[in-house]
Amino acid sequence: MRIKELQILVYEYDTVVELPESDQNLLLKAREVANNAYAPYSKFKVGAALLLENGLIITGSNQENADFTDGLCAERVAMFYANSTYPDVAVKAIAVTAKNINGLIEEPAQPCGSCRQVLVETEWRYKKAMRIIMDGRKRIQVLEGADNLLPFAFKPSSLD
Ligand code: THU
Repeated sequence: MRIKELQILVYEYDTVVELPESDQNLLLKAREVANNAYAPYSKFKVGAALLLENGLIITGSNQENADFTDGLCAERVAMFYANSTYPDVAVKAIAVTAKNINGLIEEPAQPCGSCRQVLVETEWRYKKAMRIIMDGRKRIQVLEGADNLLPFAFKPSSLD
């Protein structure tokens, strides 16, 4: 029997201005696009901004549907658009923010399980770890790679 301990480094910042400049810029874009969310059912507006290797920023917001299960999260709206429009360009970073009826949520916005799975696949596809910037009123958290969000992910290599 062996016990293995996994280590996850979480970089915490009190405010957006403390972040490295490129993260600040990305997070502000995510905050902007959260206003475009179509979230009449949950009233929870999520914004995601991706920084591509070629310097482009791609954004997305959650899009809901009266048939609840047909909606899509902000992260996947942005990621699928980026990957389908620029299929050869890696994603360097993603910033995620969320607002409820009271404004920016208190704790850092956490991508859901399905979005984590998609982030892991994108890292695998481009062979590049992505910075993950999660926005909250109390703190902003940064992770260096989607593996940190989803250890033991089902990856393309899981099919071998
Ligand atoms: N949502 C996202 O956009 N991203 C996530 O990672 C978590 C949840 C959206 C889906 C739904 O429109 C609303 O937030 C409430 O769950």
